[in-house]
Amino acid sequence: GDNVLYLAHRHGIDMEGACEASLACTTCHVYVHRDFLDKLPSPEEKEDDLLDLAPFLKENSRLGCQII
Ligand code: FES
Repeated sequence: GDNVLYLAHRHGIDMEGACEASLACTTCHVYVHRDFLDKLPSPEEKEDDLLDLAPFLKENSRLGCQII
């Protein structure tokens, strides 16, 4: 699908995604600009669980591969 991770790659942005969007890592951790945060559907429970393990977690943290 066209998640942020794949979009980044298509546009030449070197974003990490160790587990290839299978929700098994936190390497695709991103901070979402506050203007867009409200426009995104809330994270699924599994994304939230993984985010809890992500370093430097912030209120606007998401996993890039789960943002569609
Ligand atoms: Fe692993 Fe996003 S690439 S959870």
